[in-house]
Amino acid sequence: MRADQISDDITEVLITEEQIQDKLAELAEQVARDYEGENLLLVGVLKGAVMVMADFARHLPLHIQMDWMAVSSYGTGTRSSGVVQIRKDLDTDLHGRHVLIVEDIIDSGLTLSWLLENFASRGAESIEVLALLRKPDAMKVEVDCRYVGFDIPNEFVIGYGLDYAEKYRNLRDVAVLAPHVYS
Ligand code: XMP
Ligand code: MG
Repeated sequence: MRADQISDDITEVLITEEQIQDKLAELAEQVARDYEGENLLLVGVLKGAVMVMADFARHLPLHIQMDWMAVSSYGTGTRSSGVVQIRKDLDTDLHGRHVLIVEDIIDSGLTLSWLLENFASRGAESIEVLALLRKPDAMKVEVDCRYVGFDIPNEFVIGYGLDYAEKYRNLRDVAVLAPHVYS
């Protein structure tokens, strides 16, 4: 779906489809250099990271494995509850593995800091994070994210995997949700 099809629901397109692809290609080059010769496991965080994973993984000139985890900290609202719940766990044993967590967005950072601790306790050899988006002004906890696509303002965004109440995930771009939609 394209932004002009939902122009009443958004205030602006923040990042276009093309900008996203260029950035993911650039990050993939960097990751390929950093993990050359390693057996890398990409862990996508469902459901928001589905688009990032699909496109980033295809830009990567490396053999990788892929796994998925589903956690929730948001329900259907627009604010983090801070309570992280595992809805679907990994199928892969992380012991001795090089793990790259693939995320759509770091907002408060609460989900990710919880995931990092959880993965460390499973004996991963290394754990790094790639996030397409980050909201520096919203972060409540410091998380070390090695690969960041775009730093964005502290506004609720949708599209490219990101939803509001499960809607808009299939928008091609990242856009700012109009306040009248959620207020
Ligand atoms: P934090 O970092 O606050 O974020 O723990 C956890 C998850 O919340 C979702 N999230 C958003 N989803 N627009 C969305 O559609 C947003 O602006 C937004 N901010 C956070 C996202 O799934 C993230 O992984
Ligand atoms: Mg997410």
